[in-house]
Amino acid sequence: MKAIVVTDRVAGTAGMKLVERPEPQAAINDVVVQVHASGFTSGELTWPSTWTDRLDRDRTPTIPGQELAGVVTALGYGTTGLLVGQRVFGLSDSYRGGTLAEYVAVEARNLAPLPGDVDFTVGAAVAMPGLTAWQGLFVHGRLQAGQSVLVHGAAGAVGSMVTQLAREAGAYVIGTGRAADRQKALDFGAQEFVDLENDVLEDVGGAHLVFDVIGGDIGKRSAGLIRAGGTLVTIAGPTEARPADGLTIDFVLVSDRAQLGEIVQRVRDGRLRTNIGTVSTLGYAVAAFNQTKRINGKTIIRVRP
Ligand SMILES: NC(=O)c1ccc[n+]([C@@H]2O[C@H](COP(=O)([O-])OP(=O)(O)OC[C@H]3O[C@@H](n4cnc5c(N)ncnc54)[C@H](OP(=O)(O)O)[C@@H]3O)[C@@H](O)[C@H]2O)c1
Repeated sequence: MKAIVVTDRVAGTAGMKLVERPEPQAAINDVVVQVHASGFTSGELTWPSTWTDRLDRDRTPTIPGQELAGVVTALGYGTTGLLVGQRVFGLSDSYRGGTLAEYVAVEARNLAPLPGDVDFTVGAAVAMPGLTAWQGLFVHGRLQAGQSVLVHGAAGAVGSMVTQLAREAGAYVIGTGRAADRQKALDFGAQEFVDLENDVLEDVGGAHLVFDVIGGDIGKRSAGLIRAGGTLVTIAGPTEARPADGLTIDFVLVSDRAQLGEIVQRVRDGRLRTNIGTVSTLGYAVAAFNQTKRINGKTIIRVRP
C-alpha cells in the first residue's frame, strides 16, 4: 500500500516520504480500516510516540497521522462492536499512528460509526480537535454554564472547537491569537478577542478556565488569570504554570466512542463547524505539510477520492 513515512526526527515534515509499505494486519480487538480521509497534527513529529514504542525501542520508519475516517475492511480476533463495510471515524493510538496510508489497523474501541450524511473529510477533521476540546472543557475543566473561558489560539484547529463547544455550554468566551485571526475567532463564536501580538493579555482580567494550546510564556502568564477555584487546562505539554488558587491540568487526549458520537451529532445539526484549511491527496501530502505560507485551518489528506 502507499503510505507516508518519517525516519529522521530532526528533519520534521521535510523528512516525510511517500513509499510502499506492507498492509497492516488486524490484531486482537482491532479493525483494519481503508482510509478515505486522514489528518495529522502539527506537533506529532515532536511526540516521543512517533519515534519509539512503549519500551522505548526505535519504531521507524513510522507512518504518522492519528486522525481518520474510512471503511472497515477486516476484523481482528475477537473484535466486536463494528462490522466489515461500516463507515467509521476516530483516532489510532499515538504509538501506532499510521493513518497517512491506504490502510490502518486500529483498536475498534477508538472508533465510532460515521453517519452516512457526514463526509469522510469532515469526519477526519473533527476527531482530534473535537475530542481534545470536549475533554479539556468538560472532563478536565468541568465547565459550568455562566463561567468565563479564555481560549488561546481560538482560530486554530483545537481552539475553534473549544470556542464553539464552550459557547454552546453557556460560557462567556474570550479568544486569543494572532492579529490576523481576530475575525475568524469571532466567527467561531468568541465574544471578545485578545491579539497576542499587540494587546496586553492581562487586561482581560480573570477567567474560570483557560484553555491553553500554546504553552511557554503564554501558559505561565495565563496561570495569573485564573479566578479562585478555576482551572488552567493545557495541551501544550507539562508545565510549571500554577494558578495561586486553582488547578493546572495538562493532558493528552484519548479516543472515546461516546464523545465522538456527541461531536458528530453536533456536526450534523450545525452546532459544530469544522476548521478545514486545505484538502490534498496522498500523492501531494508531503507538499501540503511543507507549505512556506502560513497554514490556516486543518490540512486533510483525502486518501481515496
Ligand atoms: N495534548 C493533546 O492531547 C493535544 C491534542 C491536539 C493538539 N495538541 C497540540 O496542541 C497544539 C495546537 O494544536 P492545533 O491543531 O490547534 O494547532 P493549530 O491549528 O496550529 O492552532 C494553534 C493556533 O494558535 C496560534 N498560535 C500559536 N502560537 C501563538 C503565539 N505565540 N501567539 C499567537 N497565536 C499563536 C496559531 O497561529 P500560527 O499558526 O500562526 O502559529 C494557531 O492559530 C499543537 O502543539 C498540538 O500538537 C495536543
